[in-house]
Parts: sequence; C-alpha cells; structure tokens
Amino acid sequence: MKDIYKTKSPFEGEKVRLRTIEKSDLDDIMKYWNTYESRIGLGTIIPMSTMMEEEFIQSAHERAKSGRGHIFAIETLETKEFLGTCGIEEIMQINKSAVIGIIIHNPENHNKGYGTDAMICLLKVGFLVLNFHRLELLVMDYNKKAIHVYEKIGFKEIGLKREAHFLQGKYHDVYIMDILAKEFEALH
Ligand SMILES: CC(C)(COP(=O)(O)OP(=O)(O)OC[C@H]1O[C@@H](n2cnc3c(N)ncnc32)[C@H](O)[C@@H]1OP(=O)(O)O)[C@@H](O)C(=O)NCCC(=O)NCCS
Repeated sequence: MKDIYKTKSPFEGEKVRLRTIEKSDLDDIMKYWNTYESRIGLGTIIPMSTMMEEEFIQSAHERAKSGRGHIFAIETLETKEFLGTCGIEEIMQINKSAVIGIIIHNPENHNKGYGTDAMICLLKVGFLVLNFHRLELLVMDYNKKAIHVYEKIGFKEIGLKREAHFLQGKYHDVYIMDILAKEFEALH
C-alpha cells in the first residue's frame, strides 16, 4: 500500500499552491480585479467595488464552512505571491457534481503555466479530497486561451449554449466543458 506520508499534498502543484482566501487578500484582489483584460474572460466587465468583493470573501467563508462551496487563493510556491483565485461552486451532493472556475489576476502572470498548474491542483482537490465524480465549467467562445488550457488538461466540450452571453454589443456562444474523476485519474 502507498505510504500516504510520501504523497504530495493535492493543494500544491509544480509552481503554485492553493490556500484559503483571506480578508487580507482584498488589496491584492482589487489591484487587477476590474481590469478589462483579466475580467473579460469571466464574462462581466461591470466593475466590482471593494465592498462587494469583501462581501464575496465573507460569503465564500460561510459557504466553505457549510460545504456549499470552496474558494481558494492561488499563490506561487516559491515566493507566495498572490496570483488569483479558483473555486468549486454549485455543488450537487447527490450527483457528486459541481461547477468550477479560475482566474489569474495580473495579465503579466498569464502564459507562465500558473493557470494550468492551479487548475490541475483544483481538480486534484475536487476529486481526491472532496470526492466529486464530475466537474464542469463554462467558457466563452472567444476565450481561446482558456479553452486550450482546459482541453490540454483533459476537459471535454459537452455542449454549447448558443448566443448565451452578451458582451460588447454582441452575443457570444458559451461552451460547457466537463471532466470525470476516472478521466482525470487516467491522465494525471
Ligand atoms: C485562462 C487562464 C486561467 C489561463 O491561465 P494561464 O496561466 O494564462 O495559462 P497557462 O500559462 O497555464 O497556459 C496558457 C496556454 O494557452 C496558450 N495560449 C495563449 N494564448 C492563446 C490563444 N490566444 N489561443 C490558444 N492558446 C493560447 C499558451 O500557449 C499555453 O499553452 P501551452 O501550455 O500548451 O504552451 C488565465 O489566462 C486567466 O485567468 N485569464 C483571465 C480569466 C479567465 O479567462 N478565466 C477563465 C474563465 S473560463
């Protein structure tokens, strides 16, 4: 039998660590939270106030306590620099299914492998710690980078919400992608 003390924490990847999100992260979050480039991937460019974000952190804390959701901060392994957030929400207990999401805040930190590494950690936590059977995400059709990252990790495109998202005067399609625990286990 594998010695569990010799296994690596699923919260740690090659480059990043997932940890709890704290009120002290607020300033780091607000630094890039409302920049066009980083928010466009999330689909809403309506600015969020510090107060709204503070309430979100508080509600994330409540949801984590009751097992209704898990939001994590992403930091670099080496220097503990705050990189962004990721999370598991819309938990369906009976189906062992949930919706996940990720953002690396500072565009200068994009394309350095952090997003891929953090998403793999999130899936490890989802499957190996929280015992989910299936994890799903939504991604806008224009977010080619995110789609590339998700496909590389092993997500499959399972559906398309046609013209479901309105941004910059135009309707965009939204892809539904998912990955099963057994598929992730076979790949990682
Ligand atoms: C999407 C996101 C999480 C990816 O994280 P990241 O750290 O930038 O991604 P990585 O560095 O791990 O990987 C980027 C990959 O995309 C590729 N890529 C970059 N731009 C691309 C583009 N326009 N089209 C396709 N692939 C692209 C890179 O070459 C790299 O691929 P490789 O590893 O095979 O070489 C991050 O960019 C982000 O937070 N964006 C803003 C918010 C967002 O869109 N969140 C997702 C919502 S669904």
